[in-house]
Amino acid sequence: MKYFIGNWKMFGVPKSINILKSINSFNLFDKNRNKYQIVITPPYTLIHFFAKYFKKKLIKIGSQNCFYKEKYSSNTSAISPYMIKKVGAKFTLVGHSDNRAEGDTDKMLKEKVKHALKHNLKVVFCIGENKKQKKNNSTNRVLKNQLIKVLEKKFNKNNIIIAYEPIWSIGTGKIPNEQDLSNTVFFIKKILKQIFNNKSPAVLYGGSVDENNIQMLKQLREIDGFLIGGASKSPKKFIDIIKNYYK
Ligand code: PGA
Repeated sequence: MKYFIGNWKMFGVPKSINILKSINSFNLFDKNRNKYQIVITPPYTLIHFFAKYFKKKLIKIGSQNCFYKEKYSSNTSAISPYMIKKVGAKFTLVGHSDNRAEGDTDKMLKEKVKHALKHNLKVVFCIGENKKQKKNNSTNRVLKNQLIKVLEKKFNKNNIIIAYEPIWSIGTGKIPNEQDLSNTVFFIKKILKQIFNNKSPAVLYGGSVDENNIQMLKQLREIDGFLIGGASKSPKKFIDIIKNYYK
């Protein structure tokens, strides 16, 4: 199963559901539809509405983040995994570089993953190196740390998906070269196998994925799907990514 996950970031109002309706119509009649899962992560404000509308459809809804406490607390503006699950989300991103930059620590991320799993959300755990770390050849060290500081053997690996998103690639139009990306994905899977008894969760790639570079990215069969930001706000681009992937 491949994943195409659209991360809307700070985008969308109720009528933006039309974007999802277009994607859903494509999905419904796509002969490859059993080979992949579409997930959209709108802002919190739209999760309930979207999840209700798509409840019996193939598209799943997720959140872009969750708070590190489980249910209720006195933290103003915080939203817990429990609350997210209760409005119909099935997935949550955790550890997106935007949120790491805003102060998410490994300790907080571990709590987020733990509580999200407890409430039966599938966790898309995001990791990635920045430009300087790449330049210093410390990508593998950084990724390994991000994985081992948060993931534990006792976590249910069937509900964990890893999204490798190099920070220098997010929203820049730049993507890693084929060889580097292939090596990195194999490295991530190697570390995951060490954590999870020789079995690796799915590993996605994210960062400037579009309908053109998917032609190159699809050659790398070890990549289990894509986390798509900018291009997921356009139904045409998002659909073309899937079409070109299976062409
Ligand atoms: P991008 O974003 O596709 O716009 O680079 C990806 C992400 O931040 O998840």
